[in-house]
Amino acid sequence: MKLIDGKQTASEIRAELKNEIDKLKLSGKNVPGLVAILVGENPASEIYVRSKSKDCEEIGMRSKVEKLDAGVPEKELLELVDKYNKDKDYHGILVQLPLPKHIDEDKIIEAISPKKDVDGFHPVSVGNLVIGKDTFASCTPAGIQELLVRYKIETKGKHVVVLGRSNIVGKPIANIMLQKKEGANSIVTICHSAAKDLAQYTRQADILIAAIGQPKFVKADMVKDGVVVVDVGINRIEDKNLPKGYRIVGDVDFDEVAPKSSFITPVPGGVGLMTRAMLLKNTYKAYLLYGE
Ligand SMILES: NC(=O)c1ccc[n+]([C@@H]2O[C@H](COP(=O)([O-])OP(=O)(O)OC[C@H]3O[C@@H](n4cnc5c(N)ncnc54)[C@H](OP(=O)(O)O)[C@@H]3O)[C@@H](O)[C@H]2O)c1
Repeated sequence: MKLIDGKQTASEIRAELKNEIDKLKLSGKNVPGLVAILVGENPASEIYVRSKSKDCEEIGMRSKVEKLDAGVPEKELLELVDKYNKDKDYHGILVQLPLPKHIDEDKIIEAISPKKDVDGFHPVSVGNLVIGKDTFASCTPAGIQELLVRYKIETKGKHVVVLGRSNIVGKPIANIMLQKKEGANSIVTICHSAAKDLAQYTRQADILIAAIGQPKFVKADMVKDGVVVVDVGINRIEDKNLPKGYRIVGDVDFDEVAPKSSFITPVPGGVGLMTRAMLLKNTYKAYLLYGE
């Protein structure tokens, strides 16, 4: 069994990007920029946004956080998005979700220019992903593929079984792995809560990607020997032995499944850290494609 180290890989990606940005700075060029728009006082969102802008600063990217009151009218948010659509210093726009109920999230996402859609949630980006055009793939699925590529895991002709069909993980990773491209070209099955006997699918997986949000759901008898396991789940379970009273586990029962697997991502320390790194990578890509 080999551990897929998301922490190490994410740090390699940041180092590579920093290197590129250092070169831009030396040649007196503009650098990539990411603006994060945060509406309201959601503590989890504040932590996410703070860590994303810290990542940017660490690698020398321009970064800005726009904080708006929870009661901001939708129109004002749309105007702000439009302002950054036109701003040449910001190549990526991220609107932290969820938004307050009076704001139509779809409308906001659709207002972001697809050229700056570094979260990959815009329907144009999603459509391009499905038809195999180069685009911004959303960060968690992009991070999963990056791990498979960097660990030189064969994907061509392999059976990838995806647990979960959300728009941010399940569907996009399935679409990524389906493409006739390097690091993909797989046979893909997507499972969801209507599956009658989930194990009959998971046991067929050469590569199992679990994104269902159910703690330690995948057990040893649900996988075959030598499976590659990518655990996307981030679940809190009670742990009275820890000062905070809980710990984070994945959707896979790591202790049971790891001995049967050829590669496996841990939780924490696997996919989660890749999401942030891919946001930086997408912003750099937006700069290269559309920046000046
Ligand atoms: N950066 C990261 O690492 C990252 C990013 C995003 C999410 N996550 C984590 O990944 C997990 C999934 O997130 P998400 O946003 O994709 O979740 P979600 O929107 O809640 O979707 C869960 C999916 O799993 C399916 N599902 C739930 N229970 C199932 C079961 N017992 N058997 C089969 N399918 C089942 C659901 O089926 P139905 O469609 O039929 O309801 C749904 O498609 C969560 O733990 C989340 O915290 C991590």
